Amino acid sequence: MYYWGFDLGDGESAIARTGSSENTYPEIISVDGKKVTITVWAVMKNGEVRIGESAARSASAAVRSAARFKRRFLDAQSDSAALVRDFSARVFESLRGSGALTGGEKSNVVYIGCPAGWDQEARSRYQHIFETIGFPSPQVVSESRAVMVGAIQSNSVRDYVDLRSHSVLVIDIGSSTTDFAYVDKGKETEVHTGGEVALGGGIMDEVLLEASISASSESAALHNVLQESESWRVDCELHARRLKEKYYSLAPEERTPEECSESLLVTYDDPLILDLTMDEAMSHRLTEEPCEQLGGKSFREVFCAGLRQVRESIGEAVPELLFLTGGVSRMDCILTWCQEVFPEAVIYVDQEPEFSVARGLSWCGKIDDELMHFRVEVDGLIASNIVEEIVSRHLTSLYKTSLEHLIDPLLEHAVKPVLLEWQSGKIKRLSDLETSLQDKIRVYLYSENAKACLYQPVSDWLL
Ligand SMILES: Nc1ncnc2c1ncn2[C@@H]1O[C@H](COP(=O)(O)OP(=O)(O)OP(=O)(O)O)[C@@H](O)[C@H]1O
Ligand SMILES: [Mg+2]
Repeated sequence: MYYWGFDLGDGESAIARTGSSENTYPEIISVDGKKVTITVWAVMKNGEVRIGESAARSASAAVRSAARFKRRFLDAQSDSAALVRDFSARVFESLRGSGALTGGEKSNVVYIGCPAGWDQEARSRYQHIFETIGFPSPQVVSESRAVMVGAIQSNSVRDYVDLRSHSVLVIDIGSSTTDFAYVDKGKETEVHTGGEVALGGGIMDEVLLEASISASSESAALHNVLQESESWRVDCELHARRLKEKYYSLAPEERTPEECSESLLVTYDDPLILDLTMDEAMSHRLTEEPCEQLGGKSFREVFCAGLRQVRESIGEAVPELLFLTGGVSRMDCILTWCQEVFPEAVIYVDQEPEFSVARGLSWCGKIDDELMHFRVEVDGLIASNIVEEIVSRHLTSLYKTSLEHLIDPLLEHAVKPVLLEWQSGKIKRLSDLETSLQDKIRVYLYSENAKACLYQPVSDWLL
């Protein structure tokens, strides 16, 4: 059996797979040769559907292209469901084509993640898409649950701290959403933040693009192009996103104007030049200044308000560990903000945030399946008389060994005191001796001393 985890992210997607044998760690399965598939879809003039890097490269030349479409899924009127279906169908085709995915439902289960804030109706609608494409046994579960399960299973975190005995706050900051999951001693507990915060790195791309267009001498023409052509909007936003990622991946001294600026030639109508620049001032703008998408608040304000709300919701049991994941967790400022709100917590930043949801989903599939089999076995045992048969077959040996362990203590603690009472005349008649003995033995058998004597033979027998 193979357990697949499909993390269809708003910004980028990844797939993990694990087998049913005991010590298998989910491996990342490449789609068209890439471990991370940027969530971009494009249809070319000849009808060819492209996804990922090749779609991103040809976004402006495509008849139609789309990116960041998952975030519109809750709007049932939007084109999101159709794009999710087409994108996933191509992923599925690639997995079948490469031979990574063989067989049907009997040998595969696919777990697909969704933001924690999606309700049951949205999850069923989403799951239905994967059923119609032909994904084997698709199941939709929350991405934060997947990250949490993955964190519990992950060796690197386990070496760091035992999540089963500590409280942990998992924070997944993606392209369109920020999810929180609170895990107290291995058990997920609800955190009240409204389920999800509509906050993600995509907003920064939009702000960078908008600021760059406004600063251009051809801003009116550029605005027109982006309003008319979705393909050009996708292309420009992707360039803005890459430049932003590059800026934050470089060490501060490497963030030179040569490295962190780019001129794009936009050839929709008349050729136009769009200059994109990431520098300290722009970085400040992306994180600290109010923006329209966040209702006039800054990224920092909304993120920190979310953190404080989580803290309030948790109350006394402040998390000992914060587990940061999702692409945006690569920004150093996220760590600093988390330290401000949770100064007492140890903070662990995921080293491979691009894969944690996919791996976690694959773990969820495996664990759910094992649990299901376990329940079936237990139900079978309860329904059958196997347990009774085994017990009755071995009961005589339990009596025998228990008696061997109890006989001396019984003589010492029950029989001897009654005989002494008889000897001293406290018990007068022989017939009273018998009732006294019975009472004393009964009391002794309920005593801690008798239980201690029985512990060894009973546990040996159970083994
Ligand atoms: N080095 C980096 N610095 C800043 N942002 C980054 C960096 N690397 C990735 N990102 C941003 O992280 C986001 C993608 O993260 P992730 O893959 O976790 O999101 P997603 O799963 O696609 O989205 P969602 O979970 O919201 O559906 C993008 O906005 C991307 O630009
Ligand atoms: Mg994600």
